[in-house]
Amino acid sequence: MNQTERDSLTDNLISHLRKKPGQYFAWEKLASKLQVERSEIDAALALAADWEYKLRVNRTKGVKFVAAPDLLTSTEILHGLKTRRLGRIVHAYRSVKSTNDLAARLAEDGAPEGVIVTAEEQTKGRGRLGRNWYSPPKTGIYLSIILRPTFPPEDAPGLSVMTAVALADTLIKWRPGLVQIKWPNDIWINGRKTAGILTELSAERNGIHHVIVGVGINVNHRAGDFPEDLRATATSLRRELRRKVDRVALLRLFLANFEKEYTAYLKYRLRKSLARVREYSALLGRAVTLQSGQLRRTGVVKDIDRNGALILQTVTGLETITAGEVTVVKPRG
Ligand code: BTN
Repeated sequence: MNQTERDSLTDNLISHLRKKPGQYFAWEKLASKLQVERSEIDAALALAADWEYKLRVNRTKGVKFVAAPDLLTSTEILHGLKTRRLGRIVHAYRSVKSTNDLAARLAEDGAPEGVIVTAEEQTKGRGRLGRNWYSPPKTGIYLSIILRPTFPPEDAPGLSVMTAVALADTLIKWRPGLVQIKWPNDIWINGRKTAGILTELSAERNGIHHVIVGVGINVNHRAGDFPEDLRATATSLRRELRRKVDRVALLRLFLANFEKEYTAYLKYRLRKSLARVREYSALLGRAVTLQSGQLRRTGVVKDIDRNGALILQTVTGLETITAGEVTVVKPRG
């Protein structure tokens, strides 16, 4: 058996056992169901243990499923995933430098739309504007999605705003408090950053090769897990809810929401989600400063338009802003 066969046998074994959790499956029945030798089942059990599945093995009674691991394995992500195309091929890693870099490499090698890359840890997680994305093991979701839209490159920036809506719609289901989008695509919970999006485009003037949508979500970080410089401005679902969250369930729901939003985006761009973009916005009506390269402007946010751009009222008139870093200057109230 090669590694791929062993992976797939282990997947099948786990899927079969979890149909009746807590109930023993006899050795002979398992062997005939999976059409393999007993020794191959042993190899699959060893791999399942490696993936941190809790299975009970009894020499006479057989094997039973006890619990799934708190890990983003492809088996777990695919179990009960409600998407048609997105995330149907999963590359799940323990530790990588950056899932966006890996996804870009896969895309260059021809990986189709919908392939996702996840990791338990990133050693060089990247954020927007050349920043790092703090990616400690087993606490967050670090995900990259490969897209191959056929629309023109100028329609790609709206994908980040669209992703932010899918993320906000997902996080709000856990009722952690006030969920907001801080333009263009940070997600705030109760005023602190909980998730970020890094969209990277590979295109020529007349067409897109691929887009990598990278998503980082702070899920089960405790306050003390954040480095000191982030503690005041960053939060996690766990910190807000005061309980641990099932990362796999969160990821599955996000993938389903993302697929829904993306399907609508392909047809209508942001038109279907604009009302929610505005509803979730942390910036509408606020006085802000905007740093865009060397340029610094101050104004009041009037709107977010159908391309996802920020409409800023400055002393010289209305300006349409497509990129930059926003800071709120006057807290509301
Ligand atoms: C930001 O808010 O600055 C964007 C953060 C994006 C982080 C994610 S984590 C998965 C993917 N891989 C990366 O290296 N970055 C993105």
